[in-house]
Amino acid sequence: MILVTGGTGFIGSHTTVTLQQAGHDVLILDNLCNSRPEVVDAIAAITGTRPGFVEGDIRDAALLDRLFAEHPIQAVMHFAGLKAVGESTQIPLAYYDNNIHGSVTLLQAMQKAGVRTFIFSSSATVYGDPQKLPLTEDHPRSATNPYGHTKLVVEDILENLYHSESGWRIARLRYFNPAGAHPSGLIGESPQGVPNNLMPFVAQVATGQRPRLNVFGNDYDTPDGTGVRDYIHVMDLAEGHKAALDYCQSLPQALLTTNLGTGKGYSVLEMIQAYAQTSGQDIPYQITARRPGDIAACWADVTHATQTLGWTARLGLEDMCRDAWRWDQQP
Ligand code: NAD
Ligand code: WQD
Repeated sequence: MILVTGGTGFIGSHTTVTLQQAGHDVLILDNLCNSRPEVVDAIAAITGTRPGFVEGDIRDAALLDRLFAEHPIQAVMHFAGLKAVGESTQIPLAYYDNNIHGSVTLLQAMQKAGVRTFIFSSSATVYGDPQKLPLTEDHPRSATNPYGHTKLVVEDILENLYHSESGWRIARLRYFNPAGAHPSGLIGESPQGVPNNLMPFVAQVATGQRPRLNVFGNDYDTPDGTGVRDYIHVMDLAEGHKAALDYCQSLPQALLTTNLGTGKGYSVLEMIQAYAQTSGQDIPYQITARRPGDIAACWADVTHATQTLGWTARLGLEDMCRDAWRWDQQP
């Protein structure tokens, strides 16, 4: 059985589907601070199997002890956490508490229970402002906001833990920009309030919930002046997690650090155009000032993941837009 923290969230729910379809039992632990319990029904509808679900918090040590005692958990995939960069500058303590204290509490419970396989949701944000593209895993790390800092710190904690005792099998997966949805249209990304990320915002413009998109700057040193990112289909990301789990479980101990991206970058304008074409909707936009803290361009070198895990992203921009649009049209 795999314990999936944050399993009703965007990436956790899609990964749960992939894990179940690969024959794993899944137990989800989520406090629902950024997701809804109906996601469990949707996962069951897709896979034909209902994952276990516990509404609770990763900072609740007594609850974790109980879960490890009562269930045959072999590995933990740890998605739970707060992820909004802007919000993290306003309420940094909540971010340090959820993302760092939460991860430490979870790792302590695992250590006590003798469960030592851990797959962690890190982020390309740990590379800061790229000095060189594509980004390889040995690129220097830095953080310009509290959210990014929590990812750096947890990456370091995991490295310390790995060296402190034998038998830990740890993967630090650095996601680029997850997008898309499950092809069934039953699960996808559901941001609360005003979306921070590009694609959910584009979707809300396409469906008429918002009048237009603000494009944050067209004076970057990129082909069309707008920001370039490596968008990866969430189902490819889910497959990457399964590959990382298989890799870890095949070894007596492991500390894997790898990018999960496609290796290709697309600009904001290219994303708008692709989504408009797939959805058949107009996406009105206006160019506004740069968003503070944004970088010009960022995409992954995927050689390490390909060679180590035998995994590469299979789905492209059209798949991401098509699957996102199917989900985005749900009432
Ligand atoms: P999400 O908000 O959709 O999912 C996170 C889930 O964790 C939510 O369901 C939320 O309710 C739950 N949660 C939060 N704090 C919790 C706590 N203390 N106890 C229990 N549950 C808690 O986010 P996501 O996009 O699926 O991201 C998953 C992970 O991947 C996060 O750690 C995020 O930092 C990381 N990540 C996301 C992106 C991205 O762009 N989406 C990119 C890189 C890394
Ligand atoms: C993409 C591009 C924006 C919104 C963030 C986090 C990162 C990671 C993924 C978790 C940029 C432009 C966006 C809009 C726009 N999360 N944009 N108008 O900034 O690459 O990464 O999410 O780890 O840590 O920083 O993604 O989707 O916010 O932006 O023009 O309304 O779209 O300027 O060029 P980003 P994003």
